[in-house]
Amino acid sequence: MTPRFRFCINALGMPICSADTNCTFYLDGCGACVVLVAKYNPRKDEVTEFSASSCLTLLYSINFCSVITTEGLGNTQDGFHAVQKRMSGFHASQCGFCTPGMCMSIFTSLINADKSKRPEPRNGFSKLTVSESEKAFSGNLCRCTGYRPIIDACKSFATDVDLEDSGLNIFWKKSDKNPDVSRLPSYTLGGGICTFPDFLKSEIKSHMNGACIAASKEGWYLPRSINQYYELIYSGILSDSVKVVVGNTSVGVYKDQDLHNQYIDISGIPELLNVVRREAGFEIGAAITISRTIEILQQDCEWTSSPNGSVVFRKLAEHMSKVATPFVRNTASIGGNLILAQKYPFPSDIATILLGAGSTVCLQFDSERKHITLEEFLEQPPLNPTILLLSIFIPHWISDSQTGTGLVFETYRAAPRPLGNAVSYVNCAFLGHVSLDESSDALALSNLHLAFGAYGTEHAIRARKVEKFLTGKSLTASFVLTAIQLLQETIVPVEGTSHPEYRVSAAVGFLFSFLPPLSKGITQPGKVLNIGSAISADTDDVCNFPLLSRRETISIDEYTPIGEPIKKYGVEIQASGEAVYVDDIPAPKNCLYGEFIYSTQPLAYVKNIKFKSSLASQKIVAVVSGKDIPSGGENIGSTFMFGDEPLFGYPIAEYAGQALGVVIAETQRYADMAAKQAVVEYDMDDLGPPIITVEQAVENHSYFKVPQDLYPKEVGDVAKGMADADHMIPSAEVKLASEYYFYMETQTALAIPDEDNTLVVYSSSQYPELAQSVIARCLGIPFGNVRVITRRVGGGFGGKALRSFQVATAAALCAYKLRRPVRMYLNCNTDMVMIGGRHPVKAHYSVGFKSDGKITALHLDLLIDAGISEDASPTIPGTIISSVKKYNWGALSFDIKLCKTNNTSKSIMRAPGDTQGSFIADAIIEHVASVLSVDAICVREKNFHTYGSLQLFYPDSAGEASTYTLHSIFNRLASTSSYLDRAESIKKFNSCNKWRKRGISCVPLIFKAETRAAPGRVSVLNDGSIVVEVGGIEIGQGLWTKVQQMTAFALGQLWPDGCEDLLERVRVLQADTLNLIQGGFTAGSTTSESSCAATLQACNMLIYRLKPVMDRLQLQLGNVSWDTLISQASKENVNLSASAYWVPGQDSNKYLNYGAGICEVEIDLFTGAITILRGDLVYDCGKSLNPAVDLGQIEGSFIQGIGFFIYEEYVTNKDGLMISNSTWDYKIPSVDAIPKQFNAEVLNTGYHKYRVLSSKASGEPALVLATSVHCAVREAIRAARKEFANSTGCGTSPLAFQLDVPAPMTVVKELCGFDIVEKYLESLSTYGT
Ligand SMILES: Cc1cc2nc3c(=O)[nH]c(=O)nc-3n(C[C@H](O)[C@H](O)[C@H](O)COP(=O)(O)OP(=O)(O)OC[C@H]3O[C@@H](n4cnc5c(N)ncnc54)[C@H](O)[C@@H]3O)c2cc1C
Ligand code: FES
Repeated sequence: MTPRFRFCINALGMPICSADTNCTFYLDGCGACVVLVAKYNPRKDEVTEFSASSCLTLLYSINFCSVITTEGLGNTQDGFHAVQKRMSGFHASQCGFCTPGMCMSIFTSLINADKSKRPEPRNGFSKLTVSESEKAFSGNLCRCTGYRPIIDACKSFATDVDLEDSGLNIFWKKSDKNPDVSRLPSYTLGGGICTFPDFLKSEIKSHMNGACIAASKEGWYLPRSINQYYELIYSGILSDSVKVVVGNTSVGVYKDQDLHNQYIDISGIPELLNVVRREAGFEIGAAITISRTIEILQQDCEWTSSPNGSVVFRKLAEHMSKVATPFVRNTASIGGNLILAQKYPFPSDIATILLGAGSTVCLQFDSERKHITLEEFLEQPPLNPTILLLSIFIPHWISDSQTGTGLVFETYRAAPRPLGNAVSYVNCAFLGHVSLDESSDALALSNLHLAFGAYGTEHAIRARKVEKFLTGKSLTASFVLTAIQLLQETIVPVEGTSHPEYRVSAAVGFLFSFLPPLSKGITQPGKVLNIGSAISADTDDVCNFPLLSRRETISIDEYTPIGEPIKKYGVEIQASGEAVYVDDIPAPKNCLYGEFIYSTQPLAYVKNIKFKSSLASQKIVAVVSGKDIPSGGENIGSTFMFGDEPLFGYPIAEYAGQALGVVIAETQRYADMAAKQAVVEYDMDDLGPPIITVEQAVENHSYFKVPQDLYPKEVGDVAKGMADADHMIPSAEVKLASEYYFYMETQTALAIPDEDNTLVVYSSSQYPELAQSVIARCLGIPFGNVRVITRRVGGGFGGKALRSFQVATAAALCAYKLRRPVRMYLNCNTDMVMIGGRHPVKAHYSVGFKSDGKITALHLDLLIDAGISEDASPTIPGTIISSVKKYNWGALSFDIKLCKTNNTSKSIMRAPGDTQGSFIADAIIEHVASVLSVDAICVREKNFHTYGSLQLFYPDSAGEASTYTLHSIFNRLASTSSYLDRAESIKKFNSCNKWRKRGISCVPLIFKAETRAAPGRVSVLNDGSIVVEVGGIEIGQGLWTKVQQMTAFALGQLWPDGCEDLLERVRVLQADTLNLIQGGFTAGSTTSESSCAATLQACNMLIYRLKPVMDRLQLQLGNVSWDTLISQASKENVNLSASAYWVPGQDSNKYLNYGAGICEVEIDLFTGAITILRGDLVYDCGKSLNPAVDLGQIEGSFIQGIGFFIYEEYVTNKDGLMISNSTWDYKIPSVDAIPKQFNAEVLNTGYHKYRVLSSKASGEPALVLATSVHCAVREAIRAARKEFANSTGCGTSPLAFQLDVPAPMTVVKELCGFDIVEKYLESLSTYGT
């Protein structure tokens, strides 16, 4: 008999837990776990496919569905799919953690486009268009690549693509003429994959009659009618923890606080799935998905002949396309959204826009139905399960040509990201009729619906007073101003709402932009307001500009295959989901799962930990805390050269977010949910107040010591420099907040106890060697008893260097105590709260300068928040100052305080310190330029180093004069990007556009890199295959690829032109702390080159041993193949394994990297939204070991930098607890946030004997270049402030203001002026309009 619950994965009826989707628990909205879900309609014999987020989807809701994961598209055994191969060939995967989800989003878009009735595409292409391919994965996040290569891979399928414009790839060289589709991995129209197997279709057909599941012992109920639903509700079998669901996506918004043991899935009730099109409008069933609703509305627009008749539906569909992400919209129901809006103060877009469109809803009360307006519905108390939302009715609004009444409808949203995956700060929908008032010859509004939501309100509302006020009146400036004042009285954010003034101001801006077009065509301008001319002359929506790119690299063939842009090692298995991350290691027998309980107090005794009575707490197997550390062990969770950090706050919690214990359960979900039930009793007596801010640290003299040899060196005589200056800025301030790592794979470890007091710990770590020692010290066992294994890391960015130890040690402690394997995989919220991030810095500066812009002296006072423990913080003053030194300040002095606070420990994060230092330097340059009223580029150039001053500021790393390439890079960039011309056109643009302003900025980069010792072992097996072990960890930076290339090059040295097929023979092994000791840590951008250097050394040893064999064979045979050589060497008992420990020379372990970046941005003055119009980068990579890998690092780090400077708001509460701790609140750049045109160039410069085959680092430096975006935003704000002579901010003059980091849209808007619309209207009113 067919089971009642059935689904298949990749055409097999296999259990869902074996599907590889890389799902991070509750990262919800990141897209890493996207799969394709196919449903079969037996009546129509039709299959529909859509993408879905597996972490939000309940298992039983895919009953009788077919699920395709990326492994089902292609894999090592069956061959890879074109999507996977192109992801690989376009270098579109780095750490690979997002790649399966990316592949599935792209694949789903392709097959759905191919199903459409569009004309047949060119042979080998899909029906997808270029513009659609830019949005195909708009909800999927990637922290590594910067998205550009993923767009290239996706675009390569588009029927209208020009392949010559494609990005760097392995399928053709840039010089190749007319690349054509035949060189690409071939694509079959329709995707070439069977998405729904026949056996499941047959089973569905056999279930067609009487497939009604009204009760279920599994706790899943699927009523097939309203009657069945109510029978169930009143049956008495339901517990209090029952949950009614459709798509269940609301758990992405409001996390379940407890487990549920019963679910009622109402998506099988036909009335909830009806779509009825009537003359008067649309009735849409409440369980219809948002995606389907968009389709329905769009179809209606196509059918309606009158352009005016469909405007409401078209705008609703457009707006809904910005709600959530494609893979959420595909399962999220329209009714579920409205219920959230009604039940909670949820910032729903859909409720607002449907309210604006005058919608009504139909409710089912037991046997009765009731139709009420959406406004009435939203005002009702929260519905209980006895009331069902059945449907939504959207009226069909039309213009009336007979009465000359026109229809206007607009919707707006201000949100951190333009294309969705971010809820709105405020959203609006405005509808009305416009007619000509013959008596006044002016347009008059009637039937107005002005709906506002998400501004900090219980639910969306209609601004009735404003509606009434505007009705029937002609639009003069003073009249609109009064309407705006009325609006400000109406929409008042509730207390506690973030950015309240911003929200109101953006709403005002929206109303203002809605009204002007209504006054067009007025013949008596004296009487009415014609704001149309004041709004931007250029009305193009910059968000919709197509994405363009140019990626330039130069390959070198000196050390072939080194220097070639070969594809990344193992990237296809990343794309196919076969690459094994820690969480992919199958759970050993008896495996348990752990989740941290953390402190919410910054300084308190932990008296006890209890658990609320709940379903989740019943699942607790054990709670492990400081008391469980074995005797002889230490309470240690992390360490570095400056000191240790405890594993648990025991007995005192010293910061909010500190681990207090670990809850152990049988599954990760149980452990996660149970940890939420913890109630911690604190006692603050005798402890005094915690130190949360750097100011408090100063008051209390709470500092960490910076060892003398790490404290940076001052330059010159600052007092004299100040005395020589013509001008001085005596004291100014700039601040940088923290940044969270946002690796897609959160911290994770699996600890397995072994015989004789030993353990194996699989850890996602950039520093397994030190993880091993921390674990051993915690357990009080010898280091040799702990084997830490790291294969690959799903994104690290420094966050898994020292911060990974805590999870590995906690898992090890639990496993050791319970004598069972223990896995810990932090959910995103816990990870964000506990792990810390980049160092926040507060800088005060005094700078003296000449009238021509030459700076003569700079003094800095820096307060660095290091958090609770030293970690690597004592290195940060050095890296900050190193980066500040990129300009010649004449003389430089500083006072740096490394503050110890009761906050999470701050740790190294990509370009640690350099990012802050470089920003501070450029903020000072811009300040000087603004005082002198000159273009900042002049001040920059004036203060560039000569080689002489470079040596003074960087005595240990300046290198030879010929390697100082910054001047040429800067000039090259300025000319290739037409900087001066663009700066001129920006001036023109700004003078013609009142409500949009542009800015451009160009910043230089000097970044000091330091190499460290590294081990390597190369072994050749009897069949000629080669295995390499290195200390460095593959974290997405391409380390394995470079090592693979180095091995092939080095072992090929016995042949004059290298040995051809060595590359494919090389396998790079995972790091294992007992196999290869002294692995060191992977950080600072130089681990790839150090690992390559160690590999080269080991290979040279082998070459030395093989050379005599080779010589003998050559005499005998002439040509000798690799196989022959190895076979002979093996016979002769040559030792075919060589180990090396590469130690850089004292003189050569530091060098400088150079680069420059130009960015142009546009800001919208109504919302503060920032669009990066263009970014140009040039970076000197020495002789790049792999230009494709290096280019990927440069682009990816630059986009991550944009996140730091613009988007990512690290918000803490008064106790220092991070509260922007989800994808909901913490916004990394998504594909819609990258520059519309992005040009990156890798320069290959000359030979250098001290560097590894003359190469240079690429992983971190380019992040710093994102300062250019921040500086360009500052320029654009300056233009806005000039326009409105606005002096809001720190300075007394409109042009002097402080722009801290990050600078999100809310800050941009504030600095432009929350009241610019009112000011503008007032200015018009005074002229009598
Ligand atoms: C990552 C992400 C981003 C998002 N971004 C946005 C955004 O930008 N703008 C926006 O407006 N929304 C956004 N949302 C919210 C999303 O639209 C809703 O989660 C979704 O519409 C809810 O539908 P569902 O079917 O999944 O509801 P479920 O989660 O299944 O249910 C939600 C609630 O409604 C109840 N319910 C559902 N249907 C009915 C019914 N017919 N009658 C009675 N009760 C019912 C359920 O009991 C439950 O309490 C986002 C969600 C996510 C996960
Ligand atoms: S490759 Fe996308 S997150 Fe790492």
